[in-house]
Amino acid sequence: MSAPIKVPKGLYGVAVTETRIAKSDADGSLIYRGYPIADLAAHATFEEAAWLIIKGTLPTRGELDEFISSIGSRMEVSAKVYAVMRDLGRDSHPIDVLRTGISALGSVDSEPTVALQQASIEAKMSVLAANCHRVPRGSGPRGPKPAARFGANLLQMLTDREASEYEEWVFERVLMMYLEHDLNASSFTVRVVASTRADPYAAAAAGLAALKGPLHGGANEAAMDMLLEVRGPDNASAYVMSALKDGKKVMGFGHRVYKKLDPRAQLCKGYLRELLKKQGTDDSLYRLCDALENEMWERKKLPANLDFYAAPLMYSLGIEIPLYTPVFAASRVFGWMAHYDEQVAEDRLIRPDATYVGPTGLKYSPPGSG
Ligand code: COA
Repeated sequence: MSAPIKVPKGLYGVAVTETRIAKSDADGSLIYRGYPIADLAAHATFEEAAWLIIKGTLPTRGELDEFISSIGSRMEVSAKVYAVMRDLGRDSHPIDVLRTGISALGSVDSEPTVALQQASIEAKMSVLAANCHRVPRGSGPRGPKPAARFGANLLQMLTDREASEYEEWVFERVLMMYLEHDLNASSFTVRVVASTRADPYAAAAAGLAALKGPLHGGANEAAMDMLLEVRGPDNASAYVMSALKDGKKVMGFGHRVYKKLDPRAQLCKGYLRELLKKQGTDDSLYRLCDALENEMWERKKLPANLDFYAAPLMYSLGIEIPLYTPVFAASRVFGWMAHYDEQVAEDRLIRPDATYVGPTGLKYSPPGSG
């Protein structure tokens, strides 16, 4: 074998595979299967976008109806899975509970084919996401409403309240933004697992493990905690100055691909302004976000990312903060399964090399007495 190719740390700027699913670009654009995200957000439903991601084309009316009923018919989760989640106890973080729930699902689900296993995971991820905070705290699981839309159903299970039509529409847009993002850390993780020919449950559990970190999916919860800490737009400048001086990362800013603008963040920013107006709420949360965004751009030339604006949207929709990353997962699972399929079709084990820089030539000696 010839000498291994050396690549930058974090695989910065390295294209490791080909994909037809989505493409984010440094210029601030994002396409899903060729369609700009803004076009889909303006015109499509979540189910249409999810179908597009997993199947590659927009659905016909018949395919869409079938997809909606297929998701609805697979949402019921076994009591055995809830029992495992309940046993984890009230102090466990919801994203850990969700990951454990998906692992347990892999043991109890009896779907015979990969396609049916994927359909089961996609449908149940949202129900498990809605219940991963409640169940370990001793509450009974909330079930989906039959025949309700995916987004409206999830929002209802998360908040147990009737949302307005606009609130449901906005939540669907948040889910649509989270659906897919080419080779992000969790999708890459899913592809590594898929390349070993492990089943989709294992791949989804691995995706959830990668999603937990605050540099990836966990950033939405961290961003909301920060917004609550900063409190008002007048404190934005002092907060940013002090965080940067202390070498801290300001959560919800920066991106591996987008260096000027994250198109999803800008769409969500518009939804936040409109949502607060329609709810008749004071717009100080919007003004705080805007002030932080301006400060970060002025001082560090870092743009706000999706998590920065998805967080206050979910907050304004009444979703508890520890559920933000599980919500991300309930949507991203469709992207993960599309990557799973692409990787399986490629059928090539992902196994990179590493340059060994440790010691050599050491000789074993048994443990001494000292
Ligand atoms: N706050 C403060 N400084 C930040 C920052 C942030 N949110 N994001 C990046 N930086 C700084 C880095 O410290 C680095 O500074 P330096 O050149 O002085 O060392 C510089 O900006 C480049 O950042 P880098 O970490 O190399 O970029 P990356 O492409 O590897 O990382 C993220 C991208 C997303 C991991 C990074 O921006 C980050 O940690 N953001 C906060 C977490 C977050 O919001 N994640 C969700 C992503 S969608």
